[in-house]
Amino acid sequence: MLVTLQGDLGAGKTTLVRAVLKALGVTGRIKSPTYPLLETYNVSSLYLYHFDFYRIKGPLELEDAGFRECFAGPGLCFVEWPERAAGWLPAPDVTLTLRVEDAGRTLLAASGSDLGKECLERTFNA
Ligand SMILES: Nc1ncnc2c1ncn2[C@@H]1O[C@H](COP(=O)(O)OP(=O)(O)OP(=O)(O)O)[C@@H](O)[C@H]1O
Ligand SMILES: [Mg+2]
Repeated sequence: MLVTLQGDLGAGKTTLVRAVLKALGVTGRIKSPTYPLLETYNVSSLYLYHFDFYRIKGPLELEDAGFRECFAGPGLCFVEWPERAAGWLPAPDVTLTLRVEDAGRTLLAASGSDLGKECLERTFNA
C-alpha cells in the first residue's frame, strides 16, 4: 500500500507519519528520512517504509538505490514529496495533503484505489 504526503516544508508530513507508525506499534525514536531518503521499520510481519524524496536528483537515483522493490512488495509505504518522483512512483492508494492553519493543520485525505477507499472509510467513519 502506498500513502503519499503532500504539503509545504514544515506542513507536518513527518509528524503525521510518526504518529501512524507509533499507532502501528513502532517503538523507539522515529527519525525523519530527510538525508537517508528511507527509514525502514518492521512490526511483526509488516514492513513499513518511510521515504522523503525532497532531495532526490531524479528517478535514476531511486532505481540505483533499489527502492523499486519496496513498492512492489506487500509492505506499507509512506512517501513525503512524491511530486519529486512523479512518473516513477506507482499510483498511490491514499493521498494526504497537509496545510498550515494558524497553530494547527488541515488534512485533506483522498483515495486512489479500492484499498485506499476502505482504509479511509475505516479511519474516518469509525
Ligand atoms: N498538526 C500539527 N499541529 C501543530 N504543529 C504541527 C503539526 N504537525 C507538525 N507540526 C509542527 O510543524 C513542524 C514541522 O513538522 P514536520 O517536520 O512534520 O513537517 P514536514 O512536512 O515533514 O516538513 P518537511 O517537508 O521539511 O519534511 C514541527 O515543529 C512540528 O512539531
Ligand atoms: Mg518531513
